[in-house]
Amino acid sequence: MQILAAPQELSEQCLDWLAGGRTVALVPTMGYYHAGHEDLMRHARGIAERLVVSLFVNPAQFGPGEDLDAYPRDAGRDAAVAEACGADVLFMPKADAMYAPYHGTWVDAPDMAKKLCGRSRPLHFRGVCTVVLKLFLLSRANVAVFGNKDWQQQAIIRRMARDLNVPIRIETRPIVREADGLALSSRNVYLTPEERAQAPEICRGLSYAREMVNCGEKDATLLRKAVLGRWAERLPLGRLDYIEIVHPETLEPVSRVDSPALMACAVRLGKARLIDNILLFP
Ligand code: PAF
Repeated sequence: MQILAAPQELSEQCLDWLAGGRTVALVPTMGYYHAGHEDLMRHARGIAERLVVSLFVNPAQFGPGEDLDAYPRDAGRDAAVAEACGADVLFMPKADAMYAPYHGTWVDAPDMAKKLCGRSRPLHFRGVCTVVLKLFLLSRANVAVFGNKDWQQQAIIRRMARDLNVPIRIETRPIVREADGLALSSRNVYLTPEERAQAPEICRGLSYAREMVNCGEKDATLLRKAVLGRWAERLPLGRLDYIEIVHPETLEPVSRVDSPALMACAVRLGKARLIDNILLFP
């Protein structure tokens, strides 16, 4: 596995592969790998002849007061994991290589970026779209793989790629969870033992809503209320950012689950802001 830091080197390497008829997969990451990242990499390894993994804690997607400086980092371990998962290149640029002095061109994220997480993180998806488009352009990958834990992110990236005619296929992978249901996240390290003990209630609340739907309940307000009621009892340390039921592609709120819908939430637990989601099928 090569470790590259210069965008130009990544571009040259990928052009070389593509000129030789190789297909390229890209897995964009911010590092501090867990089994969810490993799943993305192993999947990507199986669908293309060359695998590029990028590891870049993108300052542009963090707002003021967010955890950019505290974001967990372990480049040495991450490199070993990426290599074990079959990466051909681990791209680890410095911030000033991705954002040169006077950088001022941004991808204007689609309106769906204002919903869900976008309400409390107004410039987050502008930063995500900008860095992801840079990675698409540098790698010219045939396919990119993202996780469904950040459902809104993958929906926005699909829309961006479609709107800007980026010739790339987007694939997504299911959420990887701990045995007790907590969605794996690099940010789970922020949880104290007490918070960690309550954190699986996030997923249990969503699963409870799914059971209600399976039993015939379709009213989005009632489903939301049921989850909030459960959390009030079992997740007292949690502070709700949002919980919504939306159309899985447009992210528009739905009032009834008459067709497949997504229940998505963000909950703050101590220093961590945890997101999770579940698909509801009527
Ligand atoms: O999901 C992430 O880790 C990041 O948002 C991404 C896609 C790597 C862009 O920085």
